Amino acid sequence: SGSCAVADNNRFDCWPEYIGATQDKCQARGCCWQPATTPGSPYCFFPPDYNGYTASNVKTTASGVSADLTRTTTTLFPPDIKTLKLQIDFQTESRLRVKIFDPANARFEPPVEVPKGAKAVSNPQYKVKVTESPFNIVITRASTGATVFDTTGMAPFIFADQYLQIGTRLSSQYLYGLGEHRYGFLQDINKWRKLVFWNRDDIPKVDNNGYGSHPFYLNLEPNMGKNGVPQAHGVLLLNSNAGDVAMQPYGQDRAGALTFRFTGGLIDMFVLLGDSPLSVGQLYTQVVGAPYMPPFWSLGFHLCRWGYNSSDGLTSVIKRNRDANIPYDVQWNDIDYMDKYKDWTYSPDNFGNLPSIIADLHANKQRYIIMADPAISSSQPAGSYPPFDDGKRLDTFVKTENGDILVGKVWPGETAFPDFFHPNAYTYWYTQAKQFHDKIAFDGLWIDMNEPSSFIDGSATGCSQTSKYNHPPYTPGTIDGGSLVQKTICPSAQHYLSAHYNLHNMYGWSQANITRAALNTIYGNKRSPIISRSTFVGSGRYTGHWLGDNDSNYKDMAYSIPGILNFNLFGIPLIGADICGFRGTTTPEMCTRWHQLGVFYPFMRNHADIRSPDQDPASFPSPYVAHIRKALNLRYQLLAVLYTGFFNANTKGLPIVRPLFYIYPGTEAISNQFMWNDQLLISPVLTQGASTVNAFIPRDRFYDYYTLSPVNGGGRVVSLPAPLDTINVHIRGGSILPLLPTTTRTDDARQQKFTITAASSLNGTAQGELFWDDGESSNSIPSKMYSLIKFNLNKNILTTTAAMKGYMPTSGLQAGVVYILGVPQAPNTVLVNGNTEKFFYVQGSQILKIDELSLDLLQANTITW
Ligand code: GLC
Repeated sequence: SGSCAVADNNRFDCWPEYIGATQDKCQARGCCWQPATTPGSPYCFFPPDYNGYTASNVKTTASGVSADLTRTTTTLFPPDIKTLKLQIDFQTESRLRVKIFDPANARFEPPVEVPKGAKAVSNPQYKVKVTESPFNIVITRASTGATVFDTTGMAPFIFADQYLQIGTRLSSQYLYGLGEHRYGFLQDINKWRKLVFWNRDDIPKVDNNGYGSHPFYLNLEPNMGKNGVPQAHGVLLLNSNAGDVAMQPYGQDRAGALTFRFTGGLIDMFVLLGDSPLSVGQLYTQVVGAPYMPPFWSLGFHLCRWGYNSSDGLTSVIKRNRDANIPYDVQWNDIDYMDKYKDWTYSPDNFGNLPSIIADLHANKQRYIIMADPAISSSQPAGSYPPFDDGKRLDTFVKTENGDILVGKVWPGETAFPDFFHPNAYTYWYTQAKQFHDKIAFDGLWIDMNEPSSFIDGSATGCSQTSKYNHPPYTPGTIDGGSLVQKTICPSAQHYLSAHYNLHNMYGWSQANITRAALNTIYGNKRSPIISRSTFVGSGRYTGHWLGDNDSNYKDMAYSIPGILNFNLFGIPLIGADICGFRGTTTPEMCTRWHQLGVFYPFMRNHADIRSPDQDPASFPSPYVAHIRKALNLRYQLLAVLYTGFFNANTKGLPIVRPLFYIYPGTEAISNQFMWNDQLLISPVLTQGASTVNAFIPRDRFYDYYTLSPVNGGGRVVSLPAPLDTINVHIRGGSILPLLPTTTRTDDARQQKFTITAASSLNGTAQGELFWDDGESSNSIPSKMYSLIKFNLNKNILTTTAAMKGYMPTSGLQAGVVYILGVPQAPNTVLVNGNTEKFFYVQGSQILKIDELSLDLLQANTITW
């Protein structure tokens, strides 16, 4: 029919199920069937005049828009909810919230705390138009008219009990986010890809549903913002049900669309308008919460593996890495420390002297972190295992729909799953953690398998065939061909709050939330790290994350970069990948390169599978040990830069690891290089046998980190020497870095004098700062018990100012050496606070060095030349 004449690139899939489409079944849905010649384009698609909702009673005020929505027809997966309410809140000048819900029946909403808006917004950066028939929402940027969210002509808006669909036209092909999925940082929207949101324990593979869910995206707009980079917007779909997003090609005569589908909940979107991609990330953390401020020591090097197997095995690894002078702060234990893999126990046979190993770690200024999986062994004799008995008594286990404790299977065999949404969950989990901590003085927790993972599908007794939750009318294409029960507990399982169907994607979030509260009580006023495998929107306020079970190969090493960029975008900056790879066998060379890259993982941990050979730094032949030590020395020099980055993440929502395009347009597709803050450009080797690396050096002033010599980037790819012991790092002109001398413990690093490296920009200026506190107090930021030193370079004057003096260590806060980079001529004299100082300047180097200083950074200082 005429209305089915739709070009391949403008079709919206009416058979989202991935399999089973036929012409008859498609047309029975009231959809069009036409073979497509463009690979990926659907054969079964919605006719352009497909029935939709009509809006009425549209009311616009200074605080938002409301309307009633009605439809008379049904759609693919009835029952449709025929009467809805639209509520758009103008929350701030750059943020609006769009909610579409059933006014007659409350539906599930994720229990994430989000901000409320103002009563009226005087100068919104957006314009909102709601059309009545057909109903559409059009949000544009007021100043440019750029599309921000526009449902017009997109996949029809559907709101059925278990199928919600909303589409939007993108503003450009530059799309980022939509985790957790393995891919490049830039999404390729021209390949008709679909990404599923259903947390899943599996080794990361391209585009498969991953360990966490973050239905948030960043889209660049065509217009430039104030900072010489494109304006951009972000959209969060705050929905924790199973769902997916389909991307389709962008460009002339192409829809350039995203279609989101969720199997429950409601439409609740936060739309964020930024003047730059960076500011979109900041607006996002204002919605989902500021990232947790980790203790200083957790920024050191972490060493782990599954399979130390015994106290002796563990002790010898600790010893050989100490003996090799490896900078090394934190030792971990995986599940093999446990007694038969039971949480909150340790093996009396294999790890009987664990308490004394921990005492020795602490005596050597090292810390200790252990695994605490959520699943609790349910098959121990009654009265013998408090973690199960207590949970039963407090009623804190997830139940079947019949009200029995649901039994799955994880490492210890049959297990029950704590319901971290239960009002008693905190008491339950805190008690277990505290009692164990009294015996095993761990300093942080590793929470894993919390998708949740179970080795039997659903439960020991299967899942109800009649529940509407276990086999919903539409199931997104999860990795096993579309099933919500595989390798997890039944969607029909009952939490205190709701069915697992609604809460699945938040299970890891809930464990992190309760674990954070428990550790806060155990450590009193001290901060502590948590690393969680499964995450959801807002997890960053409780926990960090690692990218899961990668392989020991260069490809997986390269994939860690987009993974780390994504989690910085999602507000979880404490992120890393298993250095040298988890599965398989690394090589000394690969492991060297991986430690070099890992220096720039905010969370830096080497971890291996039980089947993998040892890959701790000291396990390799001596030249490699030296290379890895050199990489770790670099990490420890940068600790204060990283720590200051976390302060800015916590207080301003700024990411630490950033893509180049946040500063340099034209670099939107680069994810083999990245930046730290706006200060360092990192160009790692990601291949075997390399002695050079091809790196894009933006058209700007940079300085080689090691030689400090200036490099004028030409905005093109150059080949840089990259010997096996070196990772290319460039300081961006315009930055001032507080660097530390090399040490093997973060506690020692804290006692050193800083080296201030001021790198002039092309116009002779630079700025920087140093955040410093006692390294661990929970209240140091809220109670302003920290010091903040600001550095400023303007031509021939460098000043330091204490903008905040809330932390004044008795040993002082001092700089011993100052480098000024990009000084064109040898100075005649150098004055430090008015006194002549000796200095070093090698003709042609542009490096001015002043050393043997004792600059008190808590006072103002001026250096001129
Ligand atoms: C999971 C984790 C891995 C851990 C293993 C044993 O596979 O992702 O890091 O070593 O479980 O606990």
